[in-house]
Amino acid sequence: MPRGGGRGFVHLFAMKTLRCLFFAGIIAVVQGQSCTTYQAPKDFFFAAATAAYQVEGGAREDDNSNGDIACDSYHQYKVDIQNLKKLGVKQYRFSISWPRILPDGCTKSFNWAGIDYYNNLIDELIDAGIEPMVTMFHFDTPTTLGDAGGWLSRDIVDKFGDYARVLYKNFGDRVKNWLTINEPLSISTWGYCGLTGVQAPGNFSMQCPWSKYLSAHYLILAHAKAYRIYDFEFRLLQQGKVGIVLSTGWYTPATNSTDDIAAANRARDFALGWFAEPIFFGDYPQSMKDGIASRSALEGYTKSRLPEFTPLEKLLLKGSADWLGINYYYGFSVSNRVTFPYGIAQEQVDGATDRNVLYPYPQGLRSVLNYASQTYKVPVAVTENGYSDGTGTLDDTIRIDYLRDHLIATLQARQDGANVLGYTVWSLMDNMEWSSGYTVKYGLYQVNFTDPNRTRTPKASASWYTNVIAQRSVNSC
Ligand SMILES: *[C@@H]1O[C@H](CO)[C@@H](O)[C@H](O)[C@H]1NC(C)=O
Ligand SMILES: *[C@@H]1O[C@H](CO)[C@@H](O)[C@H](O)[C@H]1NC(C)=O
Ligand SMILES: *[C@@H]1O[C@H](CO)[C@@H](O)[C@H](O)[C@H]1NC(C)=O
Ligand SMILES: *[C@@H]1O[C@H](CO)[C@@H](O)[C@H](O)[C@H]1NC(C)=O
Repeated sequence: MPRGGGRGFVHLFAMKTLRCLFFAGIIAVVQGQSCTTYQAPKDFFFAAATAAYQVEGGAREDDNSNGDIACDSYHQYKVDIQNLKKLGVKQYRFSISWPRILPDGCTKSFNWAGIDYYNNLIDELIDAGIEPMVTMFHFDTPTTLGDAGGWLSRDIVDKFGDYARVLYKNFGDRVKNWLTINEPLSISTWGYCGLTGVQAPGNFSMQCPWSKYLSAHYLILAHAKAYRIYDFEFRLLQQGKVGIVLSTGWYTPATNSTDDIAAANRARDFALGWFAEPIFFGDYPQSMKDGIASRSALEGYTKSRLPEFTPLEKLLLKGSADWLGINYYYGFSVSNRVTFPYGIAQEQVDGATDRNVLYPYPQGLRSVLNYASQTYKVPVAVTENGYSDGTGTLDDTIRIDYLRDHLIATLQARQDGANVLGYTVWSLMDNMEWSSGYTVKYGLYQVNFTDPNRTRTPKASASWYTNVIAQRSVNSC
């Protein structure tokens, strides 16, 4: 989840009260509203997600990072797998902790206990009939690499490649669905350019507008490195697919004016295009190159803040993903911006856009999936979508409404012709939501954080999802 972003939008949600009694395939009308059943195609997967630092805990057991107990999945992964099995998901998206595998970030010192842990997790999942979907980097950087500049140091590109090789070597015989990096946009924007400590690694002593684009540049190159290592050394034998997870909203123009339509396109370029265009086309979107160069010049710099790829890098980048994961939570209404008061986010200044959050905005997910599938000609999957509340209540009908509407939008995109592989709920269970800590709950399962056993209890949304997966269909009311 990007920076606990659902928080604050909760009150905007208009709760739905319609009820219906319908049978699959039948369209009928209740209280003036039609209820439709959406059937998932046979090859469409349902999944649930977590990330290492947010659920594992056990940070001090076998590495030297600064985690804590979290959901204690490090000890309770068998319970989690039972819960996944009850849901009936086909895939489980989890992340591997880089410091748990390579405590100092380099391949000199392996932590074999960490490798054993993930081997056990993967084996148990496969025994339970669940395919692992593995994120290599979901925000936890080995401390030594962070101290050496983290994502602002070019050195990390090769280090990430070495780490990816270790993962393919140890787990690639069983893991076929790889995702290199989770939400590079969040890492660059909130980790390397935030105004307050909102996202790991939360180092704000840097020159913000520069650090943002520079960290993104190295994240993109690190992704391509990991992808090409798979191509050259593992693909033939392992036959898996390697992708990346991008977080994006959908950017809709506030009015039908030419200026606002252009602004919405720029906003999309500065979020999805920032990463997707280098990865699929080999370079940044033209609107980013133009916008950032002109703002840099206006501010008196002789060089654009946006780094450039070399011709060789462009070649390595182009087409460097077999699939694309999309994390979607909300949309934006975008207008053209002509003045730039202090405090406007850098990409809005550089892109000359103004944005208002639209939440919830399920039709935005349908648009994103259609756009990404058509533009990049790649299979796409929803790798995160979910609803946060502050209570973790078991009676989470509002979460059910949110998930239902977004799952329907996903299936509609598939009907529209988008190559959508599946849908993943964030999150399997309540967890540590970065800057929001344990106060923001996304889980299908509630976790009792005061109980030393971190007992998991299914919420109403877990039963709803179980039912959807069993029927392979969802009703619109
Ligand atoms: C934070 O950034 C500063 C300035 O770039 C750097 O000197 C320092 O090492 C960084 N600290 C961490 C923990 O990344
Ligand atoms: C823009 O025009 C379309 C098509 O005429 C219309 O459906 C839509 O509501 C308009 N959008 C706005 C924001 O006015
Ligand atoms: C959480 O666990 C604690 C300690 O076992 C227990 O006292 C408390 O009742 C539990 N809370 C809930 C909501 O189950
Ligand atoms: C925690 O787990 C232990 C071992 O399974 C069990 O004996 C104990 O009753 C549990 N405690 C709670 C509060 O559920």
